[in-house]
Amino acid sequence: MRDLWLTALNKIPISHGNTLKKAHVMALREILLIPNPKLYKVAQPVSAITNELKVLVKDMFETMYDAPGIGLAAPQIGVMERVIVVDCATRSKDDTRNEDGEYEEVEQEDYEGEDEGEDIPDLPEPDPEPIAMINPELIWFSDETSIYEEGCLSIPEFYEDVERPTSCRVRYMDMEGEIIERDLEGLLSTCVQHEVDHLNGKLFIDYISRLKRERITKKFQKAAKRAAG
Ligand code: NI
Repeated sequence: MRDLWLTALNKIPISHGNTLKKAHVMALREILLIPNPKLYKVAQPVSAITNELKVLVKDMFETMYDAPGIGLAAPQIGVMERVIVVDCATRSKDDTRNEDGEYEEVEQEDYEGEDEGEDIPDLPEPDPEPIAMINPELIWFSDETSIYEEGCLSIPEFYEDVERPTSCRVRYMDMEGEIIERDLEGLLSTCVQHEVDHLNGKLFIDYISRLKRERITKKFQKAAKRAAG
């Protein structure tokens, strides 16, 4: 899970043909870290798809891919609106299939190509699956739960197991203003639940033991104080 969470996206070749990238100038936003108070507040619903919102969503994708991460909520860049972006595509150009048809990772350094730095050839191209959700609501959860080791771009380099419903149904508005309902499972289900929590000022460390939460929060409080001088 840790590997998925951290590396799924940095392998996606968004530089080759991702329309988001071509359409605008890169704008990375600063990702807020705990204990920034905005991370503990409830975000406001979005009322309309405006140009400003479109720019926000593009910037959120750029910031998420750059981090890299598989999900980002607007409050994490200080915008208190109910907007999340996710991309849980886990296949990458560095993957190859084993004889069972499953994907295995191949390290770039293990590939003996003719030219150094050349991409591994003849492997399946990943399909980035960027999804932007406006005003997402979780309207159903499965009784079954699963445990994933989660991380968060606002709590870098800290990972803990979190138990959540395995599947969920999300209702949201897409960037065309359509209301979409989708059943989610696996990593995408976990990721969307994690991001919707951000819109309610909730962090994944709220699900772990109080002792661990206080320990990690103190660590980040100290770091913030040091950074402030
Ligand atoms: Ni997070």
